[in-house]
Amino acid sequence: MIHLRGVNKIHGEGGPAPFQSLYDIGLHVEAGELVVLKGVSGSGKSTLLSLLGALQKPSSGDIEVDGSRIAKLPDLHASAFRARTIGFIFQTFNLFDEFNVAENVALPLIPTGISQKDIDLNVARALELANISHKATQSVRDLSGGEKQRTAIARALVNDAKIILCDEPTANLDLENSMAFMSILKELKSLGKTIVIATHDPLFEGLEIVDRVLNIESGRIGRP
Ligand SMILES: Nc1ncnc2c1ncn2[C@@H]1O[C@H](COP(=O)(O)OP(=O)(O)OP(=O)(O)O)[C@@H](O)[C@H]1O
Ligand SMILES: [Mg+2]
Repeated sequence: MIHLRGVNKIHGEGGPAPFQSLYDIGLHVEAGELVVLKGVSGSGKSTLLSLLGALQKPSSGDIEVDGSRIAKLPDLHASAFRARTIGFIFQTFNLFDEFNVAENVALPLIPTGISQKDIDLNVARALELANISHKATQSVRDLSGGEKQRTAIARALVNDAKIILCDEPTANLDLENSMAFMSILKELKSLGKTIVIATHDPLFEGLEIVDRVLNIESGRIGRP
């Protein structure tokens, strides 16, 4: 489902202070696999996730995700690719305070141009899956941390993405909400989603649903 070969990322290339955050990354993730990316702060986890989701482009190397070669995709095609294939869950949730829960969840569907009826159906399904249906019309501003996280999960699921990318998904959650997140992950895995999680939360260690833990150190992938 995900194949990276010889991927390098240099920020500020050609500028006064270029910085290489990823070195010769090779990574293969099968469909339905759940992979944890572990590494200290600054090791390159978020950068790698952003490459998988075509939010950034690599400086060199090849990236194939769900059959699409995304390393050199023009921005317009990159956003279409994301809308079709990727669900993102960020540490800081990235929700819009001025919208309610259902409106936030519907946002990724807007660029797809599907009918309002289908938007409503997909939003209802995603809210159900993330266990936040009861707050559908509440303003995001007034949600608890765990509820914000579940809204972000629903938004990541609304396009029925095959691939879910999570960046430090439990960093702002208490233990109870972290455990609730784990059970949603389990459900996503049983639905056959391919999941990549960047985290240093020890809660993920030894977890039954985790197929592989990859260690990333100073921009290089090795085994932990
Ligand atoms: N746009 C950028 N310009 C310059 N340097 C960058 C840029 N983005 C990331 N970096 C650098 O690349 C390295 C990897 O950053 P990244 O955010 O991927 O780390 P991380 O493993 O996610 O860390 P954390 O656990 O703190 O989130 C860091 O040293 C960071 O400063
Ligand atoms: Mg990060």
